[in-house]
Amino acid sequence: MKKIVKNGTVVTDSQVFQADILIEDEKVKMIGDNLEADGAEVIDASGKYVFPGGVDVHTHMDLQAGKYRAVDDFYDGTVAAACGGTTTIVDHMAFGPKGCSLWHQVEEYHRIADGKAVIDYGFHGVIQHVNESVLKEMGEIAKQDGITSFKVYMTYDFMLKDDELYQVLKQAKEDGIVIAVHCENDGVINYLRKHYIENGCTEPKYHPLSRPARCEAEAVNRMIHLAAMAGDAPLYIVHLSSREGLMEVLKARASHQKHLGVETCTQYLTLTDDMYQDPKEGLKAIMSPPLRKKEDNEALWDALRDDVLDTVATDHCPFNYGVEKQAGADDFTACPNGGPGVEERFRVMYSEGVAKGRISLPQFVKYLCTNPARMYGMYPQKGTLLPGSDADLVIFDPAKSRVLTHADMHSAVDYTCYEGMKVQGDIDLVMQRGNVIVKDNKFLGKQGDGRYLKRGKSVLAE
Ligand code: URP
Ligand code: ZN
Ligand code: ZN
Repeated sequence: MKKIVKNGTVVTDSQVFQADILIEDEKVKMIGDNLEADGAEVIDASGKYVFPGGVDVHTHMDLQAGKYRAVDDFYDGTVAAACGGTTTIVDHMAFGPKGCSLWHQVEEYHRIADGKAVIDYGFHGVIQHVNESVLKEMGEIAKQDGITSFKVYMTYDFMLKDDELYQVLKQAKEDGIVIAVHCENDGVINYLRKHYIENGCTEPKYHPLSRPARCEAEAVNRMIHLAAMAGDAPLYIVHLSSREGLMEVLKARASHQKHLGVETCTQYLTLTDDMYQDPKEGLKAIMSPPLRKKEDNEALWDALRDDVLDTVATDHCPFNYGVEKQAGADDFTACPNGGPGVEERFRVMYSEGVAKGRISLPQFVKYLCTNPARMYGMYPQKGTLLPGSDADLVIFDPAKSRVLTHADMHSAVDYTCYEGMKVQGDIDLVMQRGNVIVKDNKFLGKQGDGRYLKRGKSVLAE
């Protein structure tokens, strides 16, 4: 069935222009003035923006994290994503059993996602130990399953040591794979966590104190140098949260480090460590890295304005406040780490970013749609509106506003960190591959309609 989106203001990462969009066979067929087609359904977008569907390249659906499992599976989590204007996710896998092959989690993730997701999805692999067969499997999985990025951690139980990181980076360079990395200095964090608990400092307000910004900065700096030593391996730093971490990125940019991508997340731009001051409410914001200060928010906004960063993702990893998060009530180190955000990103970033004049409309699209697709080998199928691209789009009304509240949201989690935030602009309609899957905040799609994306090479690997 053909559709024409008429009279909208189309926004790409480089242009804002008035046009119609003709959609046929799931694709954008044509963009131009006064388009017509026999039998086409016409959707009026007068006075509205037409954005590419959002691409969130950092989610953790159905994540098993120690004793706890994230409460959004690939159905609930992707419904939430769709209702928040995101039509593609690339999900970070959980660690598998100790010593498992890289294929173990790939197979597990197909099992838990296939037939459930309502939007298109891919996976990042995860590397939790290093040996010859793991290094060989990286290239195999990239070729056979289109998983062209792998995540490594510099903290947590399955962290890699520097020599292992270096070997992985060298292999990634050879295979044209991107290494996504969680950067925090493990030694200092573990010492501080133990120190606080032993001294009776158990409340959530000690969580940010146990993971100082310099722990992020040190690890970012180390990883950047390891990637350079490994022959300028393709490196993508996830969830940059601090001004100190950003300083290391700026240094790398100034010295023209090649093949470096950097992500921040909505929460590191818009929320602060004030949230930890209430011992109960603070549990909701226990995530790693922790929320930082207003100055950190502002430094990251400046970096977006100046095109220093590449993407804005969410690290969506929800646990119920009333259940799993309560494990941290008497000991912040026992609280499962992570928070929701996949449904909030588009609205919060438009309102706090574009409506408040911190970033431009093309920058909004660049950070939330186009660059994530480019960084992870999905462009121009995803992340843009060009003839031949998938017809994934969001019709957005800048004149509307909404007060964010958990009651209106679709994730299985029982709270939002943005409760009561007034956002300027709202989503009218979301389309995936030409099908309207959300209208007026109601999900109209179908379980299992999301397709697995075999991804190609990242721009970081070119
Ligand atoms: O606290 C967080 N972010 N949990 C999810 C795993 C990670 O570190 O990205
Ligand atoms: Zn992380
Ligand atoms: Zn994460």
